[in-house]
Amino acid sequence: MNLADSAFLRACRRQPVPHTPVWYMRQAGRALPEYLKVREGVPMLQACATPDLAVEITMQPVRRYGVDAAVFFSDIVVPLKAIGVDLDIKPGVGPVVAQPIREEADLDALRPLEPDDVPYVTEAIRALTGELGGTPLIGFAGAPFTLGAYLIEGGPSRNHDHTKAMMYGEPRLWHALMDRLTGIVLAHLRLQVEAGASAVQLFDSWVGAVAPADYRAYVLPYTRRIFEGLADLDVPRIHFGVGTGELLGLLGEAGADVVGVDWRVPLDEAARRVGPGKALQGNLDPAILLAPWEAVERKAREVLREGRQAEGHVFNLGHGVLPSTDPDQLKRLTDLVHAS
Ligand code: CP3
Repeated sequence: MNLADSAFLRACRRQPVPHTPVWYMRQAGRALPEYLKVREGVPMLQACATPDLAVEITMQPVRRYGVDAAVFFSDIVVPLKAIGVDLDIKPGVGPVVAQPIREEADLDALRPLEPDDVPYVTEAIRALTGELGGTPLIGFAGAPFTLGAYLIEGGPSRNHDHTKAMMYGEPRLWHALMDRLTGIVLAHLRLQVEAGASAVQLFDSWVGAVAPADYRAYVLPYTRRIFEGLADLDVPRIHFGVGTGELLGLLGEAGADVVGVDWRVPLDEAARRVGPGKALQGNLDPAILLAPWEAVERKAREVLREGRQAEGHVFNLGHGVLPSTDPDQLKRLTDLVHAS
């Protein structure tokens, strides 16, 4: 099948589809025994830098679930590591940065990203487009706010105290940091599309911590520059964050074609908040997959029904697959979405 005719790309473009397309954030990962097996003894960032492994792990959920899109196996901190930022991904914790960014001089750690910095990304994506055939590959990056939050805090954080202190207290430094990250993120997304990715998702996972007026002042100019910088590549641009109910209109305004929604806002209401001209992606609570199938089925049908109010709907979870999820639940869910 021609890629452009895939249900996923058609739904992103708000064209009629034979069935609602579905994929899952973090579909590759610890919920899959075959993932745990190939990752044994290989640190996360090393796996990301090994094309054969990245290809295999990206393919695993496509084979097992029959999802409508693959998402490239990598991590949002990969481009930062590639330009020399001293960081690691600690199992069960997340990204940890050795030298948090707190002052002007710390920005020197953030030089521009060149395609040659991530040859393994290009190589893996080229190989994947061959293996995937008619199934689209989604490339991705972390958005400047979310990457900035890890860099400023030095690791995961509940309230993003240092991040907000810089945003409000040192706006010049904040804007300089966002500006550098914007260049890196845009370069990273462009090289993934140039290698063969059919769509891109910008993860602004933690931006739900910010009020709408502050989003407009401190974040939106940068996400807008990223989406505008991709416009000539003609691939759907997806924008997602957690807890962004109050920001949905602004996420669309930043220039995405598809707005990702977490489980807190029903899709029909999200469609009203985002406004016309956008497709939606989401939004089953990932935790419901830990409940018996009957509960999953009931809720999934609700999501599908509410999704019909959007101009295009890509079924997904409201955030990533939880590691304790039974893969059989995801297989059944994929079949249910395809049959409805
Ligand atoms: O299947 C996919 O979705 C593709 C791969 C993917 C990973 N990370 C692999 C990964 C994607 C799209 C990401 C994005 C990512 N990474 C985000 C944005 C998405 C989101 O969840 O909001 C964020 C915030 C990160 C940072 C990060 N990396 C976290 C919070 C963690 C989890 C830490 C843990 O162990 O619980 C990681 C590590 C990570 N990235 C894993 C995977 C499969 C787990 C690594 C392992 O197997 O130990």
